[in-house]
Amino acid sequence: MTRESWTTRLGFILAAVGSAVGLGNLWRFPWMTAENGGSAFLVVYLGIILLVGVPGLLAEFVIGRRSKRNPAGALYRLSNGSGSWGIVGLLGVFTALVLLSFYSVVGGWILRYVGASVTGAYFGNPGYFDAISFGAEAAAFHVAFLGLTSLIVVGGVRSGIEKATTVMTPLIVVMLAALAVWAISQSGADAGLAFYLDFDADYLQANPISVLQAAAGQALFTLSLGVGTMITYASYLGEDNSLAFDGSVIAILNTGVGVLAGLVVFPLLFALQGGLSETAAGGGPGALFVSVASAFQQVPFGQLLAVGFFGVVLLAALSSSISMLEIPVAYLVDEHDVSRRSATLGLAGLILVTGTVCALNPDLFTTVSGPVVDTLLTAGLAGFLVFAGWVLGGDALAEYGTGSGRIARALGVPWLWSIRTVLPVFLLVTLGLSLGLV
Ligand code: PHE
Repeated sequence: MTRESWTTRLGFILAAVGSAVGLGNLWRFPWMTAENGGSAFLVVYLGIILLVGVPGLLAEFVIGRRSKRNPAGALYRLSNGSGSWGIVGLLGVFTALVLLSFYSVVGGWILRYVGASVTGAYFGNPGYFDAISFGAEAAAFHVAFLGLTSLIVVGGVRSGIEKATTVMTPLIVVMLAALAVWAISQSGADAGLAFYLDFDADYLQANPISVLQAAAGQALFTLSLGVGTMITYASYLGEDNSLAFDGSVIAILNTGVGVLAGLVVFPLLFALQGGLSETAAGGGPGALFVSVASAFQQVPFGQLLAVGFFGVVLLAALSSSISMLEIPVAYLVDEHDVSRRSATLGLAGLILVTGTVCALNPDLFTTVSGPVVDTLLTAGLAGFLVFAGWVLGGDALAEYGTGSGRIARALGVPWLWSIRTVLPVFLLVTLGLSLGLV
C-alpha cells in the first residue's frame, strides 16, 4: 500500500498549526502565565520559542521528511537498525498515549461546557467545575471526545486530518481574534493588559528558575515537540517545501494564537472579575473554566458568547488530539501492517481505559498533565535533537536545505550546531532541575 501524503503545502501547514494550537494555548498558557508572574513569564517563554522551539521543530521535520515514517520507525531506520534509537522513538509513541489519556479528559470538559453554555447550567454556579471535573460523568465525556478524535483519524491523512484542520484552524484564529477585540474593549480591561504585557523584571529576578522551567515546559507542549507529532506530520510531506519557512510560519501562528488567548483571558478576568481570583491565581486545571465562565455570566448575550468561546476551544482541542492519536496509529500502520481502521479502534480502546483512570483520579490527572508530561517531552526532544544533530549530521543539513531559500540555507550550519550542543544541554539541565537532580 502506498503511504499517504498531504494534498497541498497549505494543508500541511494548517494541520501542523492545528496540532500546535490547542489546550496548550487556551487552557495551559493563561494558567501558567498567571502562576508565573504574567509578563515576566511571557518574555522568557517567547525567547524559548524562538531559540529552542523553532530549531527543535526543524529537527523533527528533518527526521520525519527524511524517513517518511512514524518516530519509532524513523529513528530505527535512519540509524541503520539501532535498537537503542528505536527505543527513543518508541518513547515518543508511548508519550503520545500518555498525553492523550489526560488531554481527552480535558476535551471532555470542553465538550460539556459547550453544552452547558447553551443551557446556561454553570451560570451562577461557581461550584460547577468542581462538580463535573472528575468522576463517572467526566469519564463519559472523555469517551465522547475520544470518539470524535478517532472518527477524524480513521478518515486518514487527506480526507480525515487535512480536511478537518483546513476548516478548523482558520476558524479558530478568526473567532479568537473577534473575542479578543471584544474582551479588550470591556471597561476595566486595562489592568489585565498591564498584568499581561508590562514587563515585570522584579518577578523574574526573584524567581528565575521556576519561570524558566515553566516556560520551557510550556514552549515544548504548545509546539507539540518531544513526542514525534511533527516527525509524523512531516513524514507525509513531499520534497518541495522549505522546512525552515514552514516551521517559522507554524511557530509564529501558534505563538500568535497563544498571545491572543491571553488577550481574551486576562482582560476578561480583570474587567469582569476584578483580577485573578483565588482559583485563577492558584492555577490548577480549573482556572480557565471557572474564571472565563463566571465572566460570561455578567455580560449581555453571555450564553451566546460562551458557546462561541468554548466552541473555539473544542475545535482547537480536537485538531491537537488527532495529532496525538496519529502517532501510535502511524506506528502500527507503518511497522506492523495493521490497517488504519483497526489501529485507530484498538488504540482508542486502550485510551478509553487509561483516560477513564485519569478522569476518576484527580491526583493522578494533575501529576500526569504537569510534571510527567514536562519530563517526557523534554527528554524526548533532547533525544530527537541529538539524533538529528549527531546521527544524521550532514544528512540532516542536506534534508534541511532541500527546498529552502537562500536565507534559510545560510542559517543551516548554525542550526546544526545549536541542535548538537547548546540546545540538548539546555534541555537536559531543565530536566535535571525539574527532577531535582541539579
Ligand atoms: N500543542 C498541543 C496544544 O497546545 C498539545 C500537543 C502536545 C499536541 C504534543 C501534540 C503533541 O494543545
